[in-house]
Amino acid sequence: MIKIRIDLAKNSYYIFLKNNIFNYVAKCHKKNYPGCRAIIITDNNVKKFYLTSFTNNLSKNNVKFNSYCVFPGEKSKSFHSLENLTDKIIKKGVNRNDVIYALGGGVIGDLAGFLSSILLRGIKFIQIPTTLLSQVDSSVGGKTAINTKIGKNLVGTFFQPSAVFIDPNTLITLPKKEFLAGYAEVVKYSIIDDKLFFNWLNKNSKDTFNLKSENIYKIITTCIKKKAKIVKLDEKEKKTRMLLNLGHTFAHALENELNYKVRHGEAVSVGILMAMKLSQKLGYAKKEDYYVLENHLKSSKLPIKLKQLSNNKNWQIKSIINKMQTDKKSYKGNIQFILCKGIGAAFIKKDIDTNLLKKTIEEFYI
Ligand SMILES: NC(=O)c1ccc[n+]([C@@H]2O[C@H](COP(=O)([O-])OP(=O)(O)OC[C@H]3O[C@@H](n4cnc5c(N)ncnc54)[C@H](O)[C@@H]3O)[C@@H](O)[C@H]2O)c1
Repeated sequence: MIKIRIDLAKNSYYIFLKNNIFNYVAKCHKKNYPGCRAIIITDNNVKKFYLTSFTNNLSKNNVKFNSYCVFPGEKSKSFHSLENLTDKIIKKGVNRNDVIYALGGGVIGDLAGFLSSILLRGIKFIQIPTTLLSQVDSSVGGKTAINTKIGKNLVGTFFQPSAVFIDPNTLITLPKKEFLAGYAEVVKYSIIDDKLFFNWLNKNSKDTFNLKSENIYKIITTCIKKKAKIVKLDEKEKKTRMLLNLGHTFAHALENELNYKVRHGEAVSVGILMAMKLSQKLGYAKKEDYYVLENHLKSSKLPIKLKQLSNNKNWQIKSIINKMQTDKKSYKGNIQFILCKGIGAAFIKKDIDTNLLKKTIEEFYI
């Protein structure tokens, strides 16, 4: 088993990585939280594959549990489903010693994490991420959120989990498109500060997409260690942690424009390419960096154009830019961009000319 520590000023925790992990999770619960109930939040897809296996292991270890299920997808990151879920949990009975388990992808992690941070003024929370995206990114670092009509992730908290248990074998049942969406976040990590990792990803994508165990373990541990390092330096995203948002100011606006009917990771794929294009236009990155990145995303079958995110959307540049200005990273309407001085060299930049921004986005129309 691989064990990685997330070292924080307060509330440090471990990430455990192992195939077929449910029995280990149940044993840890019994040891660390004797007599406390496990409250499992999952979605209908994940329930089908993994809920029984998890609850059988809890029962075997005499752990009492309740489970709650939401619809799969971004729509569940809403006030409506938060309220529904909270009511159901409270009606069944919950106390501060109970532990909430988020069993699912980033949507479940963000929703269950937010709920845990406000239910009874905060109860313990453990992540069991089952998508590539949640295993390499969203389950680590303590950001929780739901969306509002105005924008993505606008209501949420910083609330660290007590532990994260990752079973890479769960990726076997993950639809290919979802795996790819997670892969976009993996590419993002390499663009931020690790050209060697990018080159390795580029060279090894065939084995990675065939889920070769060695590759999957390398990818998950590399990304988590990178995130751990950044979160340790800047848990509340005052500065350095913003680098992890590479491509996300674009991506969140695109997701909102499409009413969240697009995978987050697919929007991130177009978003990181837009960030590289803007960097190139400003003279920070070379054309070659842009083309190498574009080729890798394209050969990975990730979207690189707006029409690949939605065929029938009539994209309005003004509206996209307005959405970017309501993003959390913007300050008084001034958007804070994460740009790159080439692959592996991201940095934060304010005061970008709106016309240049428009021209950059327009290049992604066709
Ligand atoms: N908190 C953070 O730091 C952070 C970071 C990045 C992204 N996010 C958020 O994560 C969300 C996206 O997460 P996601 O890509 O995991 O999406 P998701 O949670 O919607 O999961 C994608 C789909 O895969 C299904 N699924 C999950 N695991 C499966 C499995 N093992 N087998 C079969 N099907 C499975 C789900 O039911 C869903 O239909 C977004 O809302 C994004 O904002 C949060």
